[in-house]
Amino acid sequence: MKNLNIGLVGYGFMGRTHANAFRSVSNFFDLPYRPILNTVCARNADRANAFAAQWGFNKAETDWRRLIENPEIDLIDIASPNDTHAEIAIAAAQAGKMVMCEKPLGRNATESEAMVKAVEAAGVPNMVWYNYRRVPAVTLAKHLIDEGRLGRIFHYRAKFLQDWTISTDLPQGGEGLWRLDVNVAGSGVTGDLLAHTIDTAMWLNGGIQEVSAVTETFIKSRKHTLTGQVEPVGIDDASLFLARFNNGSLATFEATRYARGHKALYTFEINGENASIFWDLHDLHRLQYFDHRDEGQVRGWRSLHITDRDHPYMSHWWVPGLQIGYEHTFIHQVADFLEGVGSGKASSPSFRDGLATDHVTDAVLESASSRKWITVKQ
Ligand SMILES: NC(=O)c1ccc[n+]([C@@H]2O[C@H](COP(=O)([O-])OP(=O)(O)OC[C@H]3O[C@@H](n4cnc5c(N)ncnc54)[C@H](O)[C@@H]3O)[C@@H](O)[C@H]2O)c1
Repeated sequence: MKNLNIGLVGYGFMGRTHANAFRSVSNFFDLPYRPILNTVCARNADRANAFAAQWGFNKAETDWRRLIENPEIDLIDIASPNDTHAEIAIAAAQAGKMVMCEKPLGRNATESEAMVKAVEAAGVPNMVWYNYRRVPAVTLAKHLIDEGRLGRIFHYRAKFLQDWTISTDLPQGGEGLWRLDVNVAGSGVTGDLLAHTIDTAMWLNGGIQEVSAVTETFIKSRKHTLTGQVEPVGIDDASLFLARFNNGSLATFEATRYARGHKALYTFEINGENASIFWDLHDLHRLQYFDHRDEGQVRGWRSLHITDRDHPYMSHWWVPGLQIGYEHTFIHQVADFLEGVGSGKASSPSFRDGLATDHVTDAVLESASSRKWITVKQ
């Protein structure tokens, strides 16, 4: 097992999930590489040093460029806000580093295209952290669809609901609130929450051909944390769209931060000719499955508890019946990435897959502003 030195940018919510994944993965998976927590980077030196000490990084830096200049570092992992992704990823690729980047890949498809160009020109392994693909129940859904159990797919229905921005007193911008600042985030729930649902959907059900969307900004102005001024809000608070997939199935997608009572309700349902599947992030270790071919008297929705050894990833964990959680999806992602680096076979979602999602989110925003159906760039 060779060492692979990690340079992590950002120690917020995602910085912690990634650091945890890099630290734990070798305990549970036999891999060609062992991640070494070489350096963490964030702008505040005291806090970066404290994070490095708590999580076991060798050192901390305050400028991400120092990570890229460091010949010891093999992989740059980007867990900082969306406006930093393109610049860091492109510089890392040009320096010959492997790059893992949080989602959305860029603030828009134009940024993402430049990022794809950079990693592909450099020929470096790359991945976007669309972690929901690696919830074992979601991976099982992919296997069931690929085996043809659902038959022809008619419908895909996804939603991602939160309620944390309803207060008019909530400021925009700055620490913890950069998602409300359009210059930093790129968009609102479209790039944040819908992007997850779109990545999962295209992985499970193929490409999206065209979309018709509506968005709304319910709170039109908020105080900006950095300027102290009340400024217009440029993000979408809610975003809903109809879609037609390349395979002819029809879809509805909905994301909002104004669904009182919902904290992170990500659900999807897929209806096929023979069978249907339903999944809910709040109950992530279960997959609901209905198969019309079951014998009539016992036909019904089955609640599959995804904890058996023959379920995806589960042979690496505890014993059948004991479930795993959210943080494990990031561990699975690192394991698959390192497996791919070792075998020379790229693992997904690659930057190119991340760009495909950004083409859809761009089309959603264009449709909402033009009030027209938009064909998605393939
Ligand atoms: N995969 C997922 O489910 C998921 C969930 C949450 C966030 N995200 C994505 O992860 C990224 C980070 O989100 P978060 O929730 O962790 O944000 P956060 O605000 O919790 O943390 C951001 C971190 O980036 C650091 N940072 C900001 N600018 C920097 C710079 N120029 N140089 C170095 N460090 C810098 C901050 O100090 C902080 O440590 C975003 O792109 C977001 O969309 C993905």
